[in-house]
Amino acid sequence: MNNNRGRYQPGTGTGRGAYQQQPQAQQHVQRGQPQNHQQQQWSRRAQLPGNATNANEIQTSSSQPPVASSDSNGQDWKASLRLPPPDTRYQTADVTATKGNEFEDYFLKRDLLKGIYEKGFEKPSPIQEESIPIALTGSDILARAKNGTGKTGAFCIPVLERIDPNTNVIQAMILVPTRELALQTSQVCKELSKYLNIHVMVTTGGTSLRDDIMRLHQPVHLLVGTPGRILDLTKKGVCVLKDCTMLVMDEADKLLSAEFQPSLEELIQFLPQNRQFLMYSATFPVTVKAFKERHLRKPYVINLMDQLTLMGVTQYYAFVEERQKVHCLNTLFSKLQINQSIIFCNSVNRVELLAKKITELGYSCFYIHAKMVQDHRNRVFHEFRNGACRNLVCTDLFTRGIDIQAVNVVINFDFPRTSESYLHRVGRSGRFGHLGLAVNLVTYEDRFKMYQTEQELGTEIKPIPSNIDQAIYCQ
Ligand SMILES: Nc1ncnc2c1ncn2[C@@H]1O[C@H](COP(=O)(O)OP(=O)(O)OP(=O)(O)O)[C@@H](O)[C@H]1O
Ligand SMILES: [Mg+2]
Repeated sequence: MNNNRGRYQPGTGTGRGAYQQQPQAQQHVQRGQPQNHQQQQWSRRAQLPGNATNANEIQTSSSQPPVASSDSNGQDWKASLRLPPPDTRYQTADVTATKGNEFEDYFLKRDLLKGIYEKGFEKPSPIQEESIPIALTGSDILARAKNGTGKTGAFCIPVLERIDPNTNVIQAMILVPTRELALQTSQVCKELSKYLNIHVMVTTGGTSLRDDIMRLHQPVHLLVGTPGRILDLTKKGVCVLKDCTMLVMDEADKLLSAEFQPSLEELIQFLPQNRQFLMYSATFPVTVKAFKERHLRKPYVINLMDQLTLMGVTQYYAFVEERQKVHCLNTLFSKLQINQSIIFCNSVNRVELLAKKITELGYSCFYIHAKMVQDHRNRVFHEFRNGACRNLVCTDLFTRGIDIQAVNVVINFDFPRTSESYLHRVGRSGRFGHLGLAVNLVTYEDRFKMYQTEQELGTEIKPIPSNIDQAIYCQ
């Protein structure tokens, strides 16, 4: 293990003395440590690099990837697939309520199917069933589906199918609002297309423009990135979008916020007339309507969100005073069965301060926010994803799209400012229909915001019981 991973070395426990037990706060947290076998249930699907010998490392699966079997229907190609270990954890109807389609029903290229199966996707999720066949026809799509239910696959699969690897031009572009999400999405594209000869390029701010310019002299079929950098490269004439007939906007409502919309509108001017728009998010406020009417042609509208919050995520609040928050968090750490957690604060400053406190309390912790240099951000993201650390403190930078299957607990150390932000934050746990837990530390000043969030999302955030039954969120 590389000990340089954390900026803060885990403390020795002496820091705990600074936060004396306060009986009032105790009642907000659960009691009773679960046994090791429960921890095992949070094992990750994919084998992670490194040996999990440190108590701070998360549990990893030890089973070997099985090799798929063949049958007599000309399916021998399946015999050579290297499948990841099957995921045997409980899944909610958010992902299991499908029509029963198979990926093979969509007549995808065999080499794409291979990538899909080797990624561990056995059957399409509900949003994939709705989106893939329509996107393959070239129609515009405006799709809304819950967090963690497979929207990435819902657009990547048809985009990869429609790209012609023999034509060396940019044929598709996937726009996302954050650099980390761009890296994650490009990685998914690369994995799904590993048997296709498709060149995927990721480009975001915070990296060398020169390197991007050089890279664009090589073949690129699919560009994944944040709007600002892509616009920069396009205006310089290095990035040529005249043959880019597919534009995906992931987290579309965020891309249409004041922060991104001007670059986005400018970028759209460089696209050909016969372009296809594919827009996805779990939240579509009214702002999206104007854009839809301006740019989309008879879009196929998918809305799989009759209910907004995830079935598998239990939401609690602990009513605390600001000065009790760290103590309350400490108690949560000692009582909850955390495989990996994401802890949200509302400012960069508070992220740094809290990360320092958590480390002083003796828990392993990384932090990430947008004011850090990109190399550092990348390292933290990569290592947290690989399970090098149990807890990550962050700003809203990690609120949208970030997919880390091992995260089972989300803590709002600061209550989010909007209900959209609440929904996306909480959706970092309970990925792909799994069970998760969200705990909100709520102060007197937050009480109306929490009430409003409950109203807007049609959900109930319950007071945290003093003795939570682990079974409700640890399966
Ligand atoms: N068909 C499938 N079978 C199994 N796992 C899948 C399938 N589709 C997606 N997944 C997995 O589900 C997880 C969540 O997928 P994804 O990140 O695409 O969700 P999302 O809908 O984009 O969520 P968010 O709204 O948070 O961005 C990922 O780990 C992904 O690999
Ligand atoms: Mg997503």
